[in-house]
Amino acid sequence: MTRGQFLTAMAFAPFVRGTSSGVNAQRLRQRLEELSLHGRPTGGIFADGVSRVAFSDADVAGRALVMRWMREAGLNPRIDAAGNILGSRAGSDAKLEPVLFGSHIDSVPSGGNFDGDLGSLSAIEAIEVLNAARETTRRPLEVVVWTNEEGVAYNNGLFGSRAAAGLLDKGEMDHVWNGVSQRDALRKIGGDPDKIGSARRGPFRAYLELHIEQGGNLDRQKIPVGVVEGIVGIDRFDVEIRGFANHAGTTPMPDRQDALIAASELTIAVNQIVRREPGRQVGTVGHIDVIPNAPNVIPGLVRLTVELRDLDKAKVARLGREIQDRAQKIATETKTAVVFTPASHHEPALADPKLQTVIEQASAKLGLKSMRLPSGAGHDAQSMAHIGPMAMIFIPSVNGISHSPKELSRWEDCANGAAVLLESVRILAA
Ligand code: GLV
Ligand code: MN
Ligand code: MN
Repeated sequence: MTRGQFLTAMAFAPFVRGTSSGVNAQRLRQRLEELSLHGRPTGGIFADGVSRVAFSDADVAGRALVMRWMREAGLNPRIDAAGNILGSRAGSDAKLEPVLFGSHIDSVPSGGNFDGDLGSLSAIEAIEVLNAARETTRRPLEVVVWTNEEGVAYNNGLFGSRAAAGLLDKGEMDHVWNGVSQRDALRKIGGDPDKIGSARRGPFRAYLELHIEQGGNLDRQKIPVGVVEGIVGIDRFDVEIRGFANHAGTTPMPDRQDALIAASELTIAVNQIVRREPGRQVGTVGHIDVIPNAPNVIPGLVRLTVELRDLDKAKVARLGREIQDRAQKIATETKTAVVFTPASHHEPALADPKLQTVIEQASAKLGLKSMRLPSGAGHDAQSMAHIGPMAMIFIPSVNGISHSPKELSRWEDCANGAAVLLESVRILAA
């Protein structure tokens, strides 16, 4: 899509129709646009996307804005020990377990303005609608904005939801990324690493998350609502390749121990191994550091990440082993050492079948077609599935693009998604 086409699409529905559920599409759009200012490239516009990596200054500013909106919606937001932002709305029966819903607002570097933001701001929008209608649900409601969903920081995502589900790794607080410990990063956003156990949460009736699809199924088939059946498992590794830095002019080719040559072969091997069997599995080398990264020095050290995903965790584990075996052959051939360290392991998760039906009922009530589909992206709902029933609502991503400034969802689809979220909450909280 060209920039011109993008801008045309953004203007597609300047005054979006109200939905029968009462969702204020205009307010939702304005808030998505305002949040996009935090992490926007200097001098850029909405279409230039956002870099709001967790624990960055932009993340801190975005979180403050979201908390302001939560306060205005009467949610009295608090930050738990894991940095998650939580706000509650009382139900008529305080003894009942709450309906929990939300998403995240951290982004990947040069990401889009919908991934996470839509679900977070739609959760607040749902509360606004209930407030305006003076509608009290039977169950309490709880809105959540999770910490570090993307896991660009610390190469391990779903931080806040894993803390809530008791899934943090031992020693995770001591991990260091960009020279800052997880412990200190958490303090920066108002969390409390010394009381991290207190972020474990109690039972809930359901966890719901609205999200953009980030793939092209709904857009291709022109279906406004996706009902997620399950979320892929994700394994990540930190890989260090140790060669020998030496003079690029004087070291003969046969004598080199070039870490970047090994890294290049490994990158291609990941792609080949993942592609050589049928299925939806994916594998990516997405981050690479070359040291010392100078034109006249043979690269002595490379650090890179390997990430693998599939709904079948056994397949993810087997692919990981095959890639590591190949890496050792590459190390021998290139006279380097290749060391794999597991960075994160997120189990695949199934959505609750009854909650899927609730989302379908809510969509039907709003006159919106829906279809079931899997999620190739990771989500905090995956952690919640460990401790309670979860389900996710997807809306179309134009051309299936995400984790890119070109990520785009139509305002009308955003409002529809918020409406389906609200209706689902109404059904579950009744
Ligand atoms: C999160 O968006 C992920 O799937 O990496
Ligand atoms: Mn997301
Ligand atoms: Mn994402």
